[in-house]
Amino acid sequence: MSVEFRQIEVADTDAFRAAVDVVARERKYIALVEAPAIEQVRAFVARNVKRGYPQIVAIEGGAVIGWCNVPPASRAVSAHVGDLFMGLLPEFRGRGIGERLLRQAIQASDAFGFRRIELGVFASNTAAAALYRKVGFVEEGTRRMAILVDGIYHDEIIMARLSA
Ligand SMILES: CC(C)(COP(=O)(O)OP(=O)(O)OC[C@H]1O[C@@H](n2cnc3c(N)ncnc32)[C@H](O)[C@@H]1OP(=O)(O)O)[C@@H](O)C(=O)NCCC(=O)NCCS
Repeated sequence: MSVEFRQIEVADTDAFRAAVDVVARERKYIALVEAPAIEQVRAFVARNVKRGYPQIVAIEGGAVIGWCNVPPASRAVSAHVGDLFMGLLPEFRGRGIGERLLRQAIQASDAFGFRRIELGVFASNTAAAALYRKVGFVEEGTRRMAILVDGIYHDEIIMARLSA
């Protein structure tokens, strides 16, 4: 299997959204239960492409199988901070693709000039937390009961990586 990692293009928008939708509908790993509206996703991708904000997609057989977005945090005083959000389609997990995707996104974020990358991970998502720790993210705290899905509360662990 040959997976390519590259900055997203506008033409990938629908395929990116479809991948997010699959992972969101699993209702276990990301803080969405379905993909955002297409207009919102179009605007997000167009902005990332135009401004060069890191958004790496993993492509296999011409299809988007995963993503790792690192757009800047919304506050003007946090323009040096990238907010990381990633996922892989279920059938591609556990083969080292997530780690390669994440390392590529970190490289792009460092090249962009972010000094800090932060993210939130469900406390139950031990695989993702282990991956983040492996590449240098450190736990900074817990947002207790921050997520409620299907009547189940999840704590959200905040992790971050500072650039050298
Ligand atoms: C989290 C995710 C991106 C990891 O990608 P992946 O391709 O499955 O992971 P990899 O095969 O690259 O593994 C890299 C590291 O992640 C950790 N990891 C991966 N799967 C794991 C598992 N089942 N249990 C524990 N650690 C695991 C390990 O540290 C592993 O390194 P190792 O092989 O040296 O032990 C992927 O599983 C995924 O998309 N999950 C659903 C969506 C999600 O959780 N997104 C993140 C939200 S914060």
